[in-house]
Amino acid sequence: MSNVAKIRKTKELQGDTFKIAHDAKVAKKENDHVIDATVGALFDDDGRFHTFKTITDSIQRIEDKRQYAYPPIDGGQAFRESLLSWVFQNHEQEIKEAFNVDLIATPGACGALHNAFLNYMEQEDTLIMPDIYWTNYRAILSNIDRSYRTYPMFDGNRFNFAGLKQTIDQEIERHDRIILLFNDPAHNPTGYSMTGSEWREIYRHARDVIERGKHVTIVYDLAYMDYAGDSFETSREIFESIKDVHKNLLMLFAFSGSKSFSLYGQRLGALIAVSKSRDEIDAFSRVARFVARSTWSCPPATGVRLIEDLPLVKEGFVAELDQARHALKTRSETFIREAAEIGLCHYPYQSGFFVTLIVDDPALSYQKLSDQGIYGIPVERGLRLSLSSLSLSDVKGLAKRIKAIL
Ligand SMILES: Cc1ncc(COP(=O)(O)O)c(C=O)c1O
Repeated sequence: MSNVAKIRKTKELQGDTFKIAHDAKVAKKENDHVIDATVGALFDDDGRFHTFKTITDSIQRIEDKRQYAYPPIDGGQAFRESLLSWVFQNHEQEIKEAFNVDLIATPGACGALHNAFLNYMEQEDTLIMPDIYWTNYRAILSNIDRSYRTYPMFDGNRFNFAGLKQTIDQEIERHDRIILLFNDPAHNPTGYSMTGSEWREIYRHARDVIERGKHVTIVYDLAYMDYAGDSFETSREIFESIKDVHKNLLMLFAFSGSKSFSLYGQRLGALIAVSKSRDEIDAFSRVARFVARSTWSCPPATGVRLIEDLPLVKEGFVAELDQARHALKTRSETFIREAAEIGLCHYPYQSGFFVTLIVDDPALSYQKLSDQGIYGIPVERGLRLSLSSLSLSDVKGLAKRIKAIL
């Protein structure tokens, strides 16, 4: 009998993603022809972990006293201003004029999500998210004893708004607050990016729900934003549709520096609150800092200092990011074209690190493929392939090999 507190003793990471990733690594070490499409990180075509030179150089220039001292709990003003400029880009001014905005630095988007769920969900609340999702959401919720329910993400090749609406309408029968989670654009695991009109439909429904006297919070996980769209500018089109939202809507954007700057281990992230209601943002400012201070105390310094210095290297970094996005796009276009040629079905993909195959039995499909040296990750209703970690030569012909095995 362990000393773990009774209320914590059932806590355990579910699922075998880590084991699968480990098995793939071991298999790849033994046989270089193995396809390891399990890794959620960007690799170059030569199989090396992708780094941005501008970012590496900028980190090396951080003076010791900035690197090693405690940064402010929220990251500090210079961090906060620079991060907002990075995330919102050419929409920044308009957003600042139309909304109240505050943010805090967090250890990765994970820290941001923990902070958001803890502060914006009552014990009895249920988070609403699509049925194809990044599985760590479940653990972040379970850690704080909060629950979730899902709706079918797709209706054919489009986002299933009707399914979302029906779920919201059922939830408001029982709850005063609605909390919605989206991972967009370049959704993990499918690579789907919602259109402006899909977002506008969601915001319109949120307006209706608020007008019926309910509280609505939208948690918007931006983890793969910098790999969405055809260019750096188009990836920010998602902010077009937020401008006409209801004055009491609260939007919480979870930003991840892991993918944007290829700094997975540095735990750079932020939680950005945007609302037309001043009171809502004042409340956020209090509770978000409280959770930060009492959970991780202050954010890791390197990422904070990097963001402070970002304006100095932005131009060079954007050029490097464009190249990385382009390399990823070449891989995904190759895979998607070849998959279409031989009728290998996947969920709708626009951009991002992953493509998810539509399979009836994810565990069985994983088994069949891994027996033949192709490792993906079984997810709810599919098998995720990480194109970000494969070289273009590995991607060429992969769809055909998979189709032959499945
Ligand atoms: C959809 C999604 N959200 C959030 C995260 C968390 O990112 P971070 O490393 O910033 O905590 C990930 C990481 O894989 C992710 O895939």
